[in-house]
Amino acid sequence: MSKALVIGNWKMNLDHVEAVHLTQQIAALLASRPADRVDVVLAPPFVDLRSVTSVLEAEHSVITAAAQHASDRDNGAFTGEVSVSMLKRLGVSSVIVGHSERRTLYHMDDALVASTVRAVVRGGLDAVLCIGENLATREAQEHDDFVRQQLLSALEGVQESNERVTVAYEPIWAIGTGQTATTEQIRDMMSTIRTQLSALRFSTSRVLYGGSVNAENAATIVTDGGVDGFLVGGASLKTDSFAAIIGACNDCYAERR
Ligand code: 13P
Repeated sequence: MSKALVIGNWKMNLDHVEAVHLTQQIAALLASRPADRVDVVLAPPFVDLRSVTSVLEAEHSVITAAAQHASDRDNGAFTGEVSVSMLKRLGVSSVIVGHSERRTLYHMDDALVASTVRAVVRGGLDAVLCIGENLATREAQEHDDFVRQQLLSALEGVQESNERVTVAYEPIWAIGTGQTATTEQIRDMMSTIRTQLSALRFSTSRVLYGGSVNAENAATIVTDGGVDGFLVGGASLKTDSFAAIIGACNDCYAERR
């Protein structure tokens, strides 16, 4: 895969007015300092999506928009849910599926993650499948098996070599904690994930890292962690830190080990 991918997951932050400001700032910065080796994606809350895609269209920006979640159903009596076709119609290009916060706080189990991945790719959008172990699983040295199993389950029934699937490895213990996984832990896990992806015939998928990525550690993680990019939480809410992460990816992606 020739280009890295950096996604800003804003989680439940920024209303649509704030979202417009941040999108304008990031789009302007990227227009003045292009990052040709990086695809950049913003994932705001549902209610901000139309505002964000309108700004991106008006600015003719190369940035695209992602939703943080979607329903696995096409339409119907599912109060509070949003379908893939509704997102597509808004100009959204991808959907984050199975983020650990949805898995742990909203009971999204493996079966629902799998059916949501299928719904997203069937609907013609890119799926960013989130996987990753908690601290107890890591301490029990069961993280490799756990993540292999998450991949197996989530990709069941998805057409092989589907270029619409991206994987984001986000160890739960590194999310929002300031405790980034070491580059060695990340490199080992990238290898586990890529081996499993090729066994499942998804070897073209990009594999991202997420968990306390910031302007200071991004370059080292790309170079030594062997990642194809990042899923960024907190540091994506400020133009400077998000731009620095994109810049680090742009500079280091070709040299990654
Ligand atoms: P932080 O970058 O805030 O640790 O969040 C990571 C994440 O969950 C992105 O999806």
